[in-house]
Order: sequence, then C-alpha cells, then structure tokens
Amino acid sequence: MSLQRVLTGITTSGTPHLGNYVGAIRPTVRASRQPDTQNFYFLADYHALIKTGGDPARVQRSTLEIAATWLACGLDPERVTFYRQSDIPEIPELTWFLTCVTGKGLLNRAHAYKAAVDRNTAAAEEPDAGVTAGLFMYPVLMAADILMFNAHQVPVGRDQIQHIEMARDIASSFNHLYGEHFTLPDVVIEEHVATLPGLDGRKMSKSYDNTIPLFAPKDQLRKLIMGIVTDSRAPGEPKDTEGSALFQLFQAFASAEETDDLALAYAGGIAWGDAKQRLFERLDQEIAPMRVVYEELMRDPAQIEKTLKKGAEKARAIATPFTARLRHAVGLRPLDSLATAKAAKAGKIAAPSFKQYRESDGMFYFKLLDAKGQLLLQSTGFSNPKDAAQAIARLQQQGAAGLPELAGQLVQRSGDDALATALAHFTPATDT
Ligand code: TRP
Repeated sequence: MSLQRVLTGITTSGTPHLGNYVGAIRPTVRASRQPDTQNFYFLADYHALIKTGGDPARVQRSTLEIAATWLACGLDPERVTFYRQSDIPEIPELTWFLTCVTGKGLLNRAHAYKAAVDRNTAAAEEPDAGVTAGLFMYPVLMAADILMFNAHQVPVGRDQIQHIEMARDIASSFNHLYGEHFTLPDVVIEEHVATLPGLDGRKMSKSYDNTIPLFAPKDQLRKLIMGIVTDSRAPGEPKDTEGSALFQLFQAFASAEETDDLALAYAGGIAWGDAKQRLFERLDQEIAPMRVVYEELMRDPAQIEKTLKKGAEKARAIATPFTARLRHAVGLRPLDSLATAKAAKAGKIAAPSFKQYRESDGMFYFKLLDAKGQLLLQSTGFSNPKDAAQAIARLQQQGAAGLPELAGQLVQRSGDDALATALAHFTPATDT
C-alpha cells in the first residue's frame, strides 16, 4: 500500500486529562511511529472559538497545555507534521470553497446542531436561540482540515464519526463540480481503546466535571485518586473488580500480570485506601517522567511557539500550492492567464511542457518549463526512465497536489503560484 496520510485535530478548549491520554494521546503517539504513514496532528484553535466564545485567555492557555502535552508524551515533531490550525490561512479559505458546495440541509442534520435545536424546542425557545453560525458551520471547517491534506485516515472518537461522513459528502460535491481534487477520508475508530471512568464512575469527561488532569502535580494526583468513588465494603471483605472505576483505571495503565495481581488483592479483601495507593503509584510510574518534560516545556512557551511555527511551515508547503490549484479550479484565476491559455490552446503560444532526457551520468531526468521556457521544476536523477515518466504522469494527473509525494526527487525553481498554474494546465480537472 502506498503512504497513508493520517490526520487528526484536538480542539484547544481544555486541559488534557487521563481519559484523553488513554483514549487518544497514547495510541496516537504510538501510531505515529509506524512506518508507511505520514502523520498530521494539529491544534484546532479555530474550532475552539466555537466553544469558548468570549474567553481568549482560555484558548491561549489550552493551546499551550495541549501542545506541551503532546510533546511531553513523545510526539516527535521532526517525524510528524505538528501544527496549529490558525497558522494555516489556507484553511479558512478552503472552508469558504467548501461552504459553497455544502447543502444547508446537510448541516441541519449535524448531531451537535440538532441537539441544540432539540434543547431549545424542549425549553419552548426559538429553535436557533443561542446557536452561532460557527456551531452550524463546524463540520465544514473540520472538512477543510481533513481535505486540505488529502488525509486517507482520520482517527477520532465515536462522537466525530458523522463529521467524517460529512467531510466525504462535501469532498464528493466539490469533486463532482470541479474535478477529482480531494481524497475521500475514512474514519478510524480505535475499537480496543478503553473509555476511562472518571472520579464518579461515569465516563471521564469535562462535561461531567469528573476528570483527573494528566499532568496534575503529584500531590494533587494522589488527592484526586483518593477521592474516586468506591462501594462501602470494609477492609477484609472481598471486592468486585466488575464495575470498579478504580480497577478500570488501573487496567488502562498496568500490564496483564499487574492487573491479575490487583484482581487477586480485590478477592482477598484489600482495603480501598490501599488499592487507591496502588493505583496512584502505577499511574505516577508512567506519568512522572513525562510530567518532568511537561513542566519544563510549560516554562518555555517560546520554544513551543517555535516548534509550532516550524510545523506550520511544513504544513503550508503542502497547503499553499494545493490552494493555488483549488483557486484555479473554482475560477479564481489571474486574468492575464485567460489570453495565454486561449492562445496556447489555439497553438499560437507555447504551453508549459515537461522535458525528459538522459544525462551523461546515465541517469534519467525531467524538467518542467513554463510557456516562455523558464525552468519551474527540475528532477533529480532516476535510474529508470519508467520512474521518471511515472513522476511526470503523477504531476500531470494531480497537479501541485502530486508534489509532496515526489518531494525527495524534485527541486523547485519558481514560486508556488507559477508552479501551480503551470501544473494546473495539465490536470484533467481544470480545463479552461
Ligand atoms: N472536532 C474534533 C473534536 O472535537 C477536533 C477536530 C477538528 C478534528 N478538526 C479535525 C478531528 C479534523 C479530526 C480531523 O474532537
């Protein structure tokens, strides 16, 4: 299988808790180390504005905390593309292109919007009372996040499945109107990842106010764990592992052997206080080394800012040429290209062209020249002429979107816009 692009975003509206760690951060960091995937992880701070309207300090704080958390948990920004949504101005531009092909009826059916309308109706309010257009448009912004990088796989929680389906619908509408520009993304649900119980035994969630912050200082972590609800069985009485929040939390961090040990202790009547101490120690064993890194990072926001800016550069190396191609596709085109394109079609003026040739080193090369013969793109040597031809075919099919995959074999000699315009000349989707 070819390189799979995996992309996911985290809304920057809160402080990461153990549930986020076990359910999303830990599996994602592990997955990011697999070969044959190209990973995009981003801080969805535009999305955060929808939930945190009027609390700018919280958005900023949460962005810092979440970035520091991912880095402390082992995400390697050299290996993946780790960026902040709002550093990519092409995202809101694409959001608009997609808005214009999205049925309003599709958005009417979004769960989050429908739930708001249902609440209003139940309270005998106007259906849209208190609903912002931001909430309504949430799925379109999310589709732009995904489609901008032509992600194949989007790992998310179950509550997000509908959003990925909508991204597919929106991509299809765009492709239908303007040609095959977007890959249809697939949702990836981590079936075997446990949802963690919170302090009160219900699912750990900010909305229940029952979370344990992942990087709570040690003392606070102990205190919170001591507050987990249990039943009233006394020391010496055997205890049920089934339905025990404490046991489930332990299991999410411990090996099978350690878990069996604790199950034995439950059967043997371990006191709740002792069981909690064991949980605390096991959790802290995994978290403490990361906490040191986290605290260090939190003391140096400038360093994180730098890391994010570097990530944005990587992301924009894809987003900028791709957006140029999309602009061309929808008809946002420089006017002077009109005359040239028409004349070129009529055979009066030369069109951009690929030239393939062999050098004295025995290797096969190609280059892309614009209509005036200026060098736009130069390949490095291919040992096989077929490979060079295939690379040309890819660029002719996919336009600028084909560039990232060939990045190792190309040297760009011109600006992104000039390159994208020349390539758009070949793509089947963008005939004038
Ligand atoms: N809506 C997602 C959430 O709240 C966050 C998100 C924004 C996202 N854009 C995305 C997830 C794109 C995956 C892909 O969990």
